[in-house]
Amino acid sequence: ERAAALRAVGGLIRAVPDFPSPGILFRDITPVLRDPAAMQAALRLHLDAVADLAGTIDRIVGVESRGFLFGMPIAHALEVGFVPARKPGKLPAETVTQAYALEYGEGTLHMHADAIEAGDRVLLVDDLLATGGTAGAAARLVQRLGGEVVASLFLIELPFLKGRERLAPLRVEALLSF
Ligand code: PRP
Ligand code: ADE
Ligand code: MG
Repeated sequence: ERAAALRAVGGLIRAVPDFPSPGILFRDITPVLRDPAAMQAALRLHLDAVADLAGTIDRIVGVESRGFLFGMPIAHALEVGFVPARKPGKLPAETVTQAYALEYGEGTLHMHADAIEAGDRVLLVDDLLATGGTAGAAARLVQRLGGEVVASLFLIELPFLKGRERLAPLRVEALLSF
C-alpha cells in the first residue's frame, strides 16, 4: 500500500554528506531511478498526490534537470503537455528569465516566452523542495506569461529549509520529508 511504497522509495534515497559543498547533506535520487519497481512506485505516488487535479491541468512545468525526470512521465500520464524551465544558454527561442537562490548557490531559469498561454493551468514539478528558491522562480516565470500555477509537486521536501512557507499560498505536495 501507500506506506509501504513510500518506505521502499524513501529507503533508496541516498544521503551524501558535503556535496556539492561542505555542510550540505545531498539527497540523491539516482538509486530510485535505476530501480524499475521503485521508479514505478514513485511515479504512482506522484500521480496519486495530484489525482484530484486530473483533467483540470493544461501543462506540466519541469525544472532542469532533475525536474524533467518525473515531470515528463507525469505529463504523459495526465495526457498534458510538458514545458521545460531551463538553465541559461539552453533554450533557443525568445525567453523570459528569473534569477533565484537555492540551498547551495544561485542561478537563473529561462522559459520560452510562447510556452505558456494566458490562463493555462500549470502543475509545477521538481524532485526536491529545499529553500523553494528554484520552484519560486519557475512559478514566477509561469505567472509572468499569464499562467496560473495550480500546485507544485515534489518527491522530497526538506522542511527545515521552509520552502513550503516560501511558496505559500501555493499548494505544495511532497511525498517524503527529510
Ligand atoms: C536542486 C533540486 C531542486 C533545487 C532545490 O537542483 O533539483 O531543483 O535544487 O533547491 P531550492 O529549493 O533551495 O531552490 P540543482 O540546482 O542542484 O540542479 P539539478 O536539478 O540540475 O541537479
Ligand atoms: N537541492 C537543494 N538542496 C538539496 C539537497 N540537500 N539535496 C539534493 N538536492 C538539493
Ligand atoms: Mg533541480
